[in-house]
Amino acid sequence: MHEKDTSGLRIDRDRLYRMLQELGRIGSYHDERLGLEGVNRLALTPADGQGRRQVVAWMEALGLAVTVDRIGNVYARREGRERDLAPIMIGSHIDSVPTAGIFDGCLGVLAGLEVVHTLADRGIDTRRPLVVAFFSEEEGGRFGTDMLGSAVATGRIPLADAHALTDRDGKRVADELAAIGFLGQSDELLMPPHAFLELHIEQGPILRARDMEIGVVTGVQSISWHELTITGQSAHAGTTPMELRRDAGVAAARINLELRRMIASGEYGQMRATMGVVQPGPGLVNIVPGRCTATVDLRNPSDEHMRAAERDLLAFYDRVSAEERVELQWRQTARTDTVAFAADIQERIATISRRMGLRHERIVSGAGHDAQEMAVLCPTGMIFIPGERDGISHNPRELSTPEQCEKGANVLLHAALELAQAT
Ligand code: HGY
Ligand code: MN
Ligand code: MN
Repeated sequence: MHEKDTSGLRIDRDRLYRMLQELGRIGSYHDERLGLEGVNRLALTPADGQGRRQVVAWMEALGLAVTVDRIGNVYARREGRERDLAPIMIGSHIDSVPTAGIFDGCLGVLAGLEVVHTLADRGIDTRRPLVVAFFSEEEGGRFGTDMLGSAVATGRIPLADAHALTDRDGKRVADELAAIGFLGQSDELLMPPHAFLELHIEQGPILRARDMEIGVVTGVQSISWHELTITGQSAHAGTTPMELRRDAGVAAARINLELRRMIASGEYGQMRATMGVVQPGPGLVNIVPGRCTATVDLRNPSDEHMRAAERDLLAFYDRVSAEERVELQWRQTARTDTVAFAADIQERIATISRRMGLRHERIVSGAGHDAQEMAVLCPTGMIFIPGERDGISHNPRELSTPEQCEKGANVLLHAALELAQAT
C-alpha cells in the first residue's frame, strides 16, 4: 500500500489549546498574590480523578480503546493496519504539583490526542498502532517518589511497593487509586512499545533566551531525593543557654547552607540542590525546635559528580548531628541516574524541525520525566517547547503560547507518523 503524502499535515492549534485550558480548569484555584488561576491536581486526589475522567472521555470520543492498569496508568489505543506490531506510544502525565500551571505534563498527553484527532480528520491510517498514555504520580509530590507510574510500568519499582506508599496523612496509593476509580485490572508491566515520544514544556529559560522553537532533548540529568527526620530537644527559648541546646531547626538550616557551599565550591559540576520541605516542630515562637523534617533534592548531569555529592552530604549529616547533638535519620525517596535518549530519535526530531523551518537545538532536561523511565524499554525521545516568563514552571505563571504549543505538537505529529508509518 502506498504511503500518503502527509508532509503538509498540521495539528489544529486552537483545538489543542482549548483542551489545555479546559483540563486546566479542573482542580484550578485563584492565587491571590499572583492574581492568576493555578492548578492543584495532586496525584490520586478527587481533582486528579476528575481530570483523569475528562481525558478518558476525550480518548473514548476519539474511538480509542482505553485500558487502566494496576497502578492507574491509562493507555488509549488506536489500531494500526498491522495490529500485532508493537505500537508507537505518546505519553506524559496529568497529575500536577499543588501550585501548577496548565502545561506541565498535560501538553504531552493532549498533544497525543490531537495527533490522533488530526489523523482521524484526514482519514490517515498507520501501519503500527498508536497509543496515547498518561502515567500516575509523575510529580512525586504526594507519595514521595517521582515518575511512580512509569517506574512501575517499566519494572524499576515493584507494584506492591508502589501500592504501599503513603502520603502525609498515611493514605495508601492502592486505596487512593480505588477511591478515584482508577485501580485498574490490566498488568502494570508494559509490553515494550516500538518507540516512545514525549512532548513537554522545557520548564526553564534556555530555549526562550536563545529564541529556539524546539528543544531536541538529549537526555535527563540524575535525580536524588532524601527525606530527613531530625530529632533534638524542645526547650524554652528564653531560659535555655545556647550551649545547652539541641536545635533540630538549626541542623536543617546548616544542611541547606552546606548545599549552597557545595555548589559554590565547583567540586560537583553543574549540581542543583533544593531543600523544598523544612518543617520544624512544635513550631512555636518561644520553643527551640526539638524536631524537624526536611527534604533534599539533588540534580546533576554527571553521575560521577552526583555520587560524590551524595557521599560528601552524608558525611556532613554525621558531622552536623555530632556538632548539634541531634539524631538525624535520612531516607532515599527517589534516585535515578542520568538517562540518554535514542540518538536516532533525536536526529529524527531535529530533521523534522529543520524541514518545518523551526529553530531547534539539543538540550539536557533539568526536570525528570516519564520518558526517562520508558527509555529502558524502547527507543525514546523528547521534544521541548519554550515557555514565556523565563520558562517558569511548578508555578501558576507557567505559560507557553498557542504558537509554541502548535510547533511542538506538529513535530510530535510527524515524528509519530514517521515511526508508525502512515498510509
Ligand atoms: O521532579 C521533577 O523533575 C518532575 O517535575 N517530576
Ligand atoms: Mn512534567
Ligand atoms: Mn512537574
